[in-house]
Amino acid sequence: MHPKNLAIQTFQQKFGAPPAFVARAPGRVNLLGEHVDYNDGFVLPAAIDRATYLAFSPAASGETRLYAADFNESACFTPETLESKTEPDGKAMAEWARYPAGVMWALNRASLDTPALNGVFSSDVPRGSGLSSSASVEMSFGVAWQKLGGWEITPMRMAQLGQQAENGYVGVNCGIMDQFASACGEAGRLLYLDCRSLSWQTMPLPDDISIVVADTSIRRKLTTGEYNRRREACETAVRLLKEHLPGITALRDVSLEDFNRLCVTLPEEVEMRARHIVTEIERSRQAIPLLESGNLARFGGLMNECHLSLRDLYQVSCPELDVMAMLAQSIPGCYGARLTGAGFGGCTVNLVKNEHTSAFAQDLTQKYTEITGLQPEIYICRASAGAGLVEF
Ligand code: GLA
Repeated sequence: MHPKNLAIQTFQQKFGAPPAFVARAPGRVNLLGEHVDYNDGFVLPAAIDRATYLAFSPAASGETRLYAADFNESACFTPETLESKTEPDGKAMAEWARYPAGVMWALNRASLDTPALNGVFSSDVPRGSGLSSSASVEMSFGVAWQKLGGWEITPMRMAQLGQQAENGYVGVNCGIMDQFASACGEAGRLLYLDCRSLSWQTMPLPDDISIVVADTSIRRKLTTGEYNRRREACETAVRLLKEHLPGITALRDVSLEDFNRLCVTLPEEVEMRARHIVTEIERSRQAIPLLESGNLARFGGLMNECHLSLRDLYQVSCPELDVMAMLAQSIPGCYGARLTGAGFGGCTVNLVKNEHTSAFAQDLTQKYTEITGLQPEIYICRASAGAGLVEF
């Protein structure tokens, strides 16, 4: 069943009445600029046509009661139980409930009212797949509390509060990209965000190509520590490079030339991590001119370089992602293929000439299964609108 219908139907069953509203917030895929958002770099995501749907109504009880239709689990919290991450009866809050609870926490810290709600949500963004299922949950709750709280903030501000929820409440030191793409997505368009100034532009996906997402079926687990460690390595690099380049505040400020000159001063692992970031920011600076001039071969080449850099320098790939990316790169009509999102499992993103997409998907599925014994899911992805209320 479509997640929107499942959320609405389950709401009716659980709460004995139809919901007053339904919020939708999409996942995202990122074409270029991976792990650079927390280094003040540039990212090129699009919101996708897979989303979290939240059916909700205001609740009279003062308690927010939630039901996750995809796990058949319920949770309950109030602004008072947020700090202790418990339910009103004292039991620990379920892992999944920390995302909505974190959004309530971040909104309250920003003095935005979060009236109690009854809610049921369901999503077709696969979890742990690199397509930002958590940001889509966060943004769907942001939309809901904005509706019930009677206040209004910009989608970018909502994205920042979602990021704060994840950083300060859930404990993942993520950047702004995922929440930004989920909140600010536009149908049919790519988003290009400067993660320092937070200014962004949109551009149409060139007519003759499709974004194909290939899911390895490998799910990342317990990677929060790895993710946070990557970020720490970047911060260490900035601290050490600052001794020679006092003006810098992020790896974005370090040119490749300066980096090559000074990299000997860095411990080996820090150097590898920082080299990925410096080169990836350089690649993502080239994205818009290449797409605008229709130089897809060169743009795809940058995607392929990005994969190698994530594999060898940032070390966030896994064998299945490598197989999926390498196979795709050898199939006719594919301009570029690489892992998308944080890594450690999940999906690749592929730019494929329209007339080749079905043969590409077939060929990739067959070859991937032959090598890994796993059944991948491959689909053509449409860039979609950002989070908001939807008709139902
Ligand atoms: C995760 C984070 C993002 C970003 C990507 C990697 O999706 O939530 O902020 O850092 O990883 O590019």
